[in-house]
Amino acid sequence: MSDTTESQTPDEVFAICAMDEIAPGAAKAFDLAEADGEGGAKPFRIVVARAKDGQFFSYRNACPHQGVWLNIGSGGFLDETGALIKCGRHGATFAIETGYCSSGACEGAFLQKVDVEALEGDVCIRGVTLVEEDPPLRHADDMDETMEIMIHPG
Ligand code: FES
Repeated sequence: MSDTTESQTPDEVFAICAMDEIAPGAAKAFDLAEADGEGGAKPFRIVVARAKDGQFFSYRNACPHQGVWLNIGSGGFLDETGALIKCGRHGATFAIETGYCSSGACEGAFLQKVDVEALEGDVCIRGVTLVEEDPPLRHADDMDETMEIMIHPG
């Protein structure tokens, strides 16, 4: 057992998956950890969506309406066209490229953007002090409704 953690400064980039793990018109959840400023870590849950033109975009996995994970219920993030991020709770839709909600209960609001870029074949995020924990970070692309109980309201 070890309580050692390895943190990264915000200027560093952090590779979270290979580019080809997310096809154009698809999205994937990642359950990461960020430094809490007090020597510990707190959950950093994001979605990485790949637009049909191949560009990557990332947002905190929280709907502006009620704060739930966007993939609650269905486990998926995109609408049937693969062109919009869709909240599984009440169906608000968001532009993949901007996070802008053009339809639904939180119309006019934005998803919280995370800086993401493609580097040397990997999808990388920057601007967040990530903490690597033991056991290693895991992909959380199979969330389901039961995970709702882990969300703290407020
Ligand atoms: S919680 Fe997302 S639209 Fe209501």
